[in-house]
Amino acid sequence: MLALLLLLSGAVAALALWLWLKRDRKYQSSESVAAAYDAWTDDRLLERLWGDHVHLGHYGDPPRHHDFREAKAAFVHELVRWSGLDQLPAGSKVLDVGCGIGGSARILARDYNLDVVGISISPAQVARATDLTTQGLSCRFEVMDALDLQMADHSFDAVWSVEAGPHMPDKQRYADELLRVLKPGGLLAVADWNRRDPSDGAMTKTERRVMRQLLNQWAHPEFASIAGFQQNLETSHYSQGGISTDDWSQATLPSWIDSILEGVRRPRAVLGLGPKAVVQGLRETPTLLLMHWAFATGLMQFGVFKLKRH
Ligand SMILES: C[S@@+](CC[C@H](N)C(=O)[O-])C[C@H]1O[C@@H](n2cnc3c(N)ncnc32)[C@H](O)[C@@H]1O
Repeated sequence: MLALLLLLSGAVAALALWLWLKRDRKYQSSESVAAAYDAWTDDRLLERLWGDHVHLGHYGDPPRHHDFREAKAAFVHELVRWSGLDQLPAGSKVLDVGCGIGGSARILARDYNLDVVGISISPAQVARATDLTTQGLSCRFEVMDALDLQMADHSFDAVWSVEAGPHMPDKQRYADELLRVLKPGGLLAVADWNRRDPSDGAMTKTERRVMRQLLNQWAHPEFASIAGFQQNLETSHYSQGGISTDDWSQATLPSWIDSILEGVRRPRAVLGLGPKAVVQGLRETPTLLLMHWAFATGLMQFGVFKLKRH
């Protein structure tokens, strides 16, 4: 019996590894990003394991033990405080660019009385975000491309964008669009997965191999560096400077291993979705481990960016 179980587990792990190696989700266009998120949303695996936030948690600096989902909510509150969104008057209009299934938007609306519009390239995410939002909460969701926002200039009191940047093929245009729709006096809050700036050391051969997987597995065309995206914001036609950045790599690092452990802590969340979900969960594991390694060694950095528009 034990031998059969071991054989079966080995076969599932081998299938997952084969899928990881042979069938990546390389960035091709914004349609390929939308398709990847539609699939991740429709299979419900991410949501059952991670809740309604598709971003890392904040564990404090130095990191302390936290429940993964609580750390994700804590992340939103940390970014709100750091960027000053908690100072906005009730009813201020906020745009959440790359809103996932609306976890951050609902916190901004519920806990800070803000009026939030979330946009995502993924129709399945927008449908799910709308389903998860109770009536009376001031937030709504639309399918839209962050690089072509169908919003008037100067129309938001704040613009919020968490972990959407790695999917943007044109970082300058992303920065321009974020700033274009921001009112004078408005606040920008961005959090991003960034690569080490080339001026801080070229990638080694091993790092280049790892980087290729980090890009190709999850539909990322390229990662900006913190200095690189700061420059995109500074040189934007819509910018007047005043950008501050920070590196939250340490405070968010436990998220990668927690992402894997959630499957062990909540086995029914995975098993309840059937054998396909087990293979899918295992398939994401090597990328999660590589992400942990890359953020732990400094190949990747978790950058945050804020400014107040003059
Ligand atoms: C890692 S998820 C983060 C989701 C959300 N910000 C959160 O924190 O839960 C990246 C998000 O960026 C969105 N995205 C990627 N490319 C986009 C684009 N070109 N336009 C709009 N949204 C995009 C994805 O659909 C997804 O919602």
